[in-house]
Amino acid sequence: MLLTATAVLYSCPVAASPCACACACWLAYTCNKRARACPPPAVCAVLHKRAQVWCFQHFLLITRRSLPQVFSFNGETVPVPASLKPLFRGFTMGHHTLSHNCVYAPLTRCRSFGTVPSPMVATYYSQRASKGGFMLTEAAPVDVTGHGYPCTPGLHTDAQLSAWKPVVDAVHAKGAVFFTQLWHVGRASHSEYQPDGAAPVAPSAIAITDPAWTVYGPTGSGPHPYPVPRALETSEIAGIVAAYANAAKRAVNEAGFDGVEVHSANGYLLNEFLCDGTNTRSDSYGGSIENRCRLTLEVMRAVIQALGGDAKKVGIRLAPFNMFLQCSDSDPMALYTHLLKELDALGLAYVHLIMPRQFEPSSEEETKNLYALRAHYSGTVLLAGGFDAASGAAALAAGHGHAIVYGRHYLANPDLPKRFALGAELNAYDRNTFYDPTAGDRGYTDYPFLGQTKTEGVPAVDPFAAVKA
Ligand SMILES: Cc1cc2nc3c(=O)[nH]c(=O)nc-3n(C[C@H](O)[C@H](O)[C@H](O)COP(=O)(O)O)c2cc1C
Repeated sequence: MLLTATAVLYSCPVAASPCACACACWLAYTCNKRARACPPPAVCAVLHKRAQVWCFQHFLLITRRSLPQVFSFNGETVPVPASLKPLFRGFTMGHHTLSHNCVYAPLTRCRSFGTVPSPMVATYYSQRASKGGFMLTEAAPVDVTGHGYPCTPGLHTDAQLSAWKPVVDAVHAKGAVFFTQLWHVGRASHSEYQPDGAAPVAPSAIAITDPAWTVYGPTGSGPHPYPVPRALETSEIAGIVAAYANAAKRAVNEAGFDGVEVHSANGYLLNEFLCDGTNTRSDSYGGSIENRCRLTLEVMRAVIQALGGDAKKVGIRLAPFNMFLQCSDSDPMALYTHLLKELDALGLAYVHLIMPRQFEPSSEEETKNLYALRAHYSGTVLLAGGFDAASGAAALAAGHGHAIVYGRHYLANPDLPKRFALGAELNAYDRNTFYDPTAGDRGYTDYPFLGQTKTEGVPAVDPFAAVKA
């Protein structure tokens, strides 16, 4: 009996069923009563005490679950339907305890003229910030060679870093936690972005050839087909790693970000090194899975070191089964199993996984492997891609992740968590203004909050003037 009681008790820290807890309590109690015939009384007494505590915690848990839950959104009390509770129970990530589980996705918006965030950028992020929420910036290049889209805000010049500061301050003023996304586009660039009009850099000289993908220049020229990139020399790779580390350090120390997310997804430089479809190198950064993961892991370690060894300020974004920008691998299960195991040892703030179909709901069959991979990582997991309120809550309830990252709905609904909780209608997102610098604050800061009527934003006046200058 003692063995059974112990087994049940030790597998029962609150999350187990109340039934098991009651059972354990009863067994320990019985055991205690018959102490003379059973184990040493001291053992029974400990078991009994422990069972009582767990029973009490279960009682509280059950009571909490059966009461209607409310959620405080920027000081406003909003009721939460039972089916959506997982989206509002909060989660812990690195140094932070977040109050809801709807994360603001990294979203390139091309409104940083001359690669410097403008006051409009601060308004945009602060509109979407909420107390205890977690937000990511759009991808921000760590180096001049890392740009590949017009008007994206860098993290490598003094002007860029000082312009980020008021953006971060505006988000912090609303009580949100704010990480920036470290980016190098690799081959997804054009000579117009590169110093001396050189070819973009990549692991290997393999171009994006699918005509569905095109590139625009920094002053809006194009669309151009993607050019053939230049394979980085082995000796140049240390410089790339250093660019990530410097950008991370400056982003946290100078701009005031709470941490950084390393972008190793969506077909950009680090993802290109991971995949054997884009990496055919024969040095220590190509070939075996260990070699192809080397750059991402070197970047992670350098970034952690640049932040004083504090891995809890660092996350990473991965897209194991998504072939954005024609970046694919012949054995993603093996590749990402290795990578996730290595990342697990670093003690990161989180791993951010993109679902197989990034822009629409992924089927159960498609997600099976992603969820299997997730088991190799024991820390906080964010899930992104094609979720709505119901599917996000269901994924969290099933234990697949700790928070859901929302992109298109969140950019069009600055108060998205509140709308989800209330079951309110969502503003429709306008694809035409996603990446359009000429749109200015149209489709950017003019999406209305619930109860407001839409006022049309103002297009930008010659958005490329600053870039051309
Ligand atoms: C306009 C736009 C810009 C995006 N920019 C980025 C980016 O800068 N970095 C990134 O990792 N993903 C980027 N993504 C992908 C989103 O972060 C997200 O994974 C995707 O929108 C799917 O989520 P959703 O279905 O909630 O929109 C972008 C997507 C959109 C629509």
